[in-house]
Amino acid sequence: MPGYGKRTDRPVVRLWARALAVALVAFVASGLYFYIRQFMKDAVWRFDLGLVNKSLAAAAFFLLIVSMALTGTTYFSRRSSRPLAYRKHLGLVGFWTALAHAAVTHVLLPAVGLRPERKIEALNSDWPGIAALVLFGAMALVSRAGIKGRLGGEAWRRLLRYGGYAGLVLAAGHAALLKWASWTGYFRTLDPVLPSLSLPLTVFAAAACLLRLAVWLSAKRDP
Ligand code: HEM
Repeated sequence: MPGYGKRTDRPVVRLWARALAVALVAFVASGLYFYIRQFMKDAVWRFDLGLVNKSLAAAAFFLLIVSMALTGTTYFSRRSSRPLAYRKHLGLVGFWTALAHAAVTHVLLPAVGLRPERKIEALNSDWPGIAALVLFGAMALVSRAGIKGRLGGEAWRRLLRYGGYAGLVLAAGHAALLKWASWTGYFRTLDPVLPSLSLPLTVFAAAACLLRLAVWLSAKRDP
């Protein structure tokens, strides 16, 4: 593939600034979406820490998906390999956002007397979320340049690749366990018109995994 796998030189400050800007836009857009959806569902305009937490969750999931999907989109677009440089920064910012989501869930929400919007039987949904967080945390450590030198480039890339897709599957499982009733309810009634944001995000995560499979098949056929 032309350009694929070449070195990607971008000033580090610009990479961080753009990754943080994407995170901010994703967070604000998610907040707006949840705010409008809540009005459609409950006929009340309210923005509280619960919606902040949902917006952090959606932004984290979005950033992690985009970070993983960049390999496939860059491979098939046959244009510059420059977007690949953003994988690490988007992934790390996604991990920090997920960390903030977990902290708000367990510390801030109870501190202000609010509860996450979940059913008791959905408590099991925390476990895939925690596993995803631990996995992305381990990847954040592994992504350090010193580790790359110790493991060797190929093993390092493979570790980050498998870890990343496993993390996406766990995060999608976490969202599915929490939101299954909401998703199936949406397909039955289409009410409210806007589905839980976790539904399109999970479809996006599945597309990112399928795209990586397509890259693998294409590279095998045309090495
Ligand atoms: C990589 C890690 C994680 C990702 C990507 C993630 C993503 C998500 C997503 C997409 C939602 C659905 C938001 C919505 O549409 O309403 C959600 C909800 C939730 N997550 Fe996570 N999560 C992660 C880790 C965790 C962890 C570690 C915990 C707690 C132990 C947790 C607890 C919750 C709870 C309680 C909700 C329901 C919030 C509500 O509806 O009020 N998550 N998360």
